[in-house]
Amino acid sequence: MDVKTLAARKGEHNMKDYKEAYEKFDWESVKSQFSWSETGKVNIAHEAIDRHADNPDKKDQVALIYSAPDREEKHTFEDLKFSSNKFANVLKKYDVKKGDRVFLFMPRSPEFYAAFFGILKVGAIAGPLFEAFMEQAVRDRLEDSEATMLITTPELLERVPLEQLPHLKQVVLVGDHDKTSDTFIDYHKEMDEASKDFDIEWVDLEDGMLLHYTSGSTGKPKGVYHVHNAMLQHYQTAKWVLDLQEDDVYWCTADPGWVTGTSYGIFAPWLNGITNVIRGGRFTPDDWYSTLSNHNVSVWYSAPTAFRKLMGAGAETAQKHDLSSVRHILSVGEPLNPEVISWGMKAFDLRIHDTWWMTETGGMMICNYPAMDMRPGSMGKPFPGIEAAIVDNDGNELPANQMGNLALKKGWPSMMRAVWNNPGKYESYFLGDWYVSGDSAYQDEDGYFWFQGRLDDVINTSGERVGPFEVESKLIEHEAVAEAGVIGKPDPERGEIIKAFITLRDGYEESDELLEEIRQFVKTGLSAHAAPREIEIKDSIPKTRSGKIMRRLLKSWELGLPTGDTSTLEE
Ligand code: WT7
Repeated sequence: MDVKTLAARKGEHNMKDYKEAYEKFDWESVKSQFSWSETGKVNIAHEAIDRHADNPDKKDQVALIYSAPDREEKHTFEDLKFSSNKFANVLKKYDVKKGDRVFLFMPRSPEFYAAFFGILKVGAIAGPLFEAFMEQAVRDRLEDSEATMLITTPELLERVPLEQLPHLKQVVLVGDHDKTSDTFIDYHKEMDEASKDFDIEWVDLEDGMLLHYTSGSTGKPKGVYHVHNAMLQHYQTAKWVLDLQEDDVYWCTADPGWVTGTSYGIFAPWLNGITNVIRGGRFTPDDWYSTLSNHNVSVWYSAPTAFRKLMGAGAETAQKHDLSSVRHILSVGEPLNPEVISWGMKAFDLRIHDTWWMTETGGMMICNYPAMDMRPGSMGKPFPGIEAAIVDNDGNELPANQMGNLALKKGWPSMMRAVWNNPGKYESYFLGDWYVSGDSAYQDEDGYFWFQGRLDDVINTSGERVGPFEVESKLIEHEAVAEAGVIGKPDPERGEIIKAFITLRDGYEESDELLEEIRQFVKTGLSAHAAPREIEIKDSIPKTRSGKIMRRLLKSWELGLPTGDTSTLEE
């Protein structure tokens, strides 16, 4: 279909009427969309790739448009079937088995996707890591998951402390290297030798496929465990919220190190047999617009932080590009500011559709549907088949317009099934039948949900979730830092920035150099997005009598707000 027809199609949506869908839909009805409903044989990799590759009408359709500054490639569904079969054979050769954790620590590239589906095809669990992670972040995740294999590049290998990871038996290197020990496997050499035929490992719908590490307010990042059954939700939300239709060209800007980059950067489009654009490398606003126009992207899923960056680049930058192929835009990750919606109207003549969900929910939960009247600033309404409510701390539902915990009735298809190695943590999410999100919100009398903020100390900076504990732990590893308390400070461009309050050890004097050194220490040890943009030195850090850092108090001080109840404050 040419660009004009796509643009002209604005307005014809898969979901005709939200109310009707909400009343009539049930998840059972989605099962018939998958081949396992007839064969009984389950694997999400089969449904996303092989099913299309085995279909004569679909096998030559471009599945992946890969576009990076130095590389531009197209891969059909059949290409992806064969490349992932090859990688599955490599995994089998090195004895990777069902349930093993295999991690990916590498940039987005066609090799990534072959490896990712290869892992799923042997029934193993994939753990994608964001490439900006530094040593500590990589170590924490590989240690906790007890991953036995890692796929990475020779450059990123420097950040993998192999000697501290006894479970990690093998490392697949994608790219030129001079390693000779048996620990290392050469990606290209093995792929050249591997057969393109593979008998996929059939699994149970409740078997694991993915571990995504995410931050909470206490402790190290936790491994959120997702199962093959999530495909029901990926598929149906792609139909009704992304509104994916045959001939669409879809682009999700998220990295697969985060759940948006897997659920909606991989599964949602491919389960629906849609052409998917993957942009690799770092990019400027001009690159973003060229990606949209060069590939005739019609449906675009991104985040407020990206929209704000494009907005900052000005209307002139947008006007240099032909953006007429775009017919539907969506957003996730942080509140979508009404100014951003107005910018979208000007730049694209389209309303940006906000969606709300979390790593733990595995798929979209509360959304703005093309078929619905939207209220700017609202996250929208629950997906059909999802029950959402505002509850008090005992799990009682609150009436309209009252602020409380945003909660979801447990049991939706893509819900996390465990926190890796930590059943207590998993349980702590639930209050009776409710999954409690950690966000506060209210619902208006017409059923629209309005986001208010996080109830815990989790920081959302440029759409990335950062746990204060992780940053504090890293800060106090620096020789000059005695104590640290970390908060999110409101910021117009990034949503929040990370601000650290620290006390210095005896013998250290405050100086700009020292503060910069401490910042770099977190940046190079943990990750760039976790490095505090502001560091302030204090004589002491407020703590409760039981020794907990009172981040809420730090935040009130920072914002000049009343300090509230400080009765538990240590003398
Ligand atoms: C937290 C989850 C899964 C998507 C990427 C983020 C915040 C998410 C919205 C939205 C306001 C939002 C919430 C949530 N969040 N979407 N549309 N409006 N806030 O996943 O890293 O697990 O973070 O992101 O606070 O709890 P995540």
